[in-house]
Amino acid sequence: MLELAQKRIVLGLTGGIACYKIAEFVRRAQDLGAVIDVVMTEAATHFITPVTMQALSGRPVFLDAWDNRVPNNMAHINLTRGADAIFIAPASTDFIAKLAHGLADDLLSTLCVAKGNCPLLVAPAMNREMWLHPATQRNVAQIKADGVAILGPAEGDQACGEVGSGRMLEPNELLAELVAFFQPKVLAGKRVLITAGPTSEKIDPVRVITNRSSGKMGYAIAQAAREAGAQVTLISGATALPAPYGVLRLNAESALDMHAAVMAEASGADIFISVAAVADWRVVNVSNNKLKKTASGQAPELEFAQNPDILADVAKLPSGPWCVGFAAETENLLEYAEAKRKRKGVPLLVGNLAQQAMNAESTELVLFDETGHKTLPAQPKINAARQLIKAIAQRMPG
Ligand code: CTP
Repeated sequence: MLELAQKRIVLGLTGGIACYKIAEFVRRAQDLGAVIDVVMTEAATHFITPVTMQALSGRPVFLDAWDNRVPNNMAHINLTRGADAIFIAPASTDFIAKLAHGLADDLLSTLCVAKGNCPLLVAPAMNREMWLHPATQRNVAQIKADGVAILGPAEGDQACGEVGSGRMLEPNELLAELVAFFQPKVLAGKRVLITAGPTSEKIDPVRVITNRSSGKMGYAIAQAAREAGAQVTLISGATALPAPYGVLRLNAESALDMHAAVMAEASGADIFISVAAVADWRVVNVSNNKLKKTASGQAPELEFAQNPDILADVAKLPSGPWCVGFAAETENLLEYAEAKRKRKGVPLLVGNLAQQAMNAESTELVLFDETGHKTLPAQPKINAARQLIKAIAQRMPG
């Protein structure tokens, strides 16, 4: 997935130990198709060499405003013309102060003042006391007000041995922020609740009944909703997937756990997207001890009760969220999915063929609403998720 194809990024490095993380960031951004022009302050060169950055980016690295490799000697203008973003990581206390005051005393600070409409993203990296200092906080507020996007910082262990806020985001988190930056903000300010993955229903302390849902589709939708500007809560059954960056994940094991977690969150949500493969039945005679084989070879007799329908219950809430259901069918998709949409009382239902979609990297989604159905092309799940988010934004009232 070349999510940064045709994007040219001016990557600015300023003085900070977090420079070492940027080598990895450059590689991963290139994997996604980005072209990266590196500009370093003099302080940054004490932490990582221009040779390293040149070898990784495969392009000249710029250090000073008088660089005569630029034909007209105007690197401070030329570099950002036609660029899609300036990305400063790590951004030191000093550099943020310069941005706040419009200082232009080296190549990187000058090109930030001369950037015109080129977007500027800044990932602070500093000691916690430097981050908390009133002057830094004033400067950060000022550059935010000037339209600069601030990424992080994170909390945790710092290189100096102290613990607190001021750590630069990790390379994969910086990358998630950069990819998200280029996605349209169609759900800005919306609160989105999503369920994903399987549920697992206890038989005894060591056994469960579960299903083959990997959670990939629900996790991709959570990522896409967050990229679209939403605040996302993901209620997830057991999966092997990491929580998407910037998404609050709450774990739920059984259908009853998931039902309780969803009902606690639903009234605060604007949109509910029910992607989880919820078990239809649970075992009612769960054994307190491990079931043992018997000499007669008789299998244990399990009794089942039907689980509550989480989606239908949310759809019935008097002023509940706008609901989107899923239907993974193995046959008669058009007929079953539309019937399910009506039965569950939801304005949008997304159908797919279970045998094609389960655990796969790609999927073909069919959207059912009151006007009929529309098939989206087979594509990687993250692309399908982004298209679904756009379809939701177009259909939502208000
Ligand atoms: N769903 C739910 N709670 C349940 C069962 C299903 O919230 N107890 C949701 C799923 O997350 C999905 C939709 O309902 O969004 C359809 O799920 P599916 O398992 O396909 O449908 P069922 O309700 O089980 O209907 P059927 O048995 O006819 O397939």
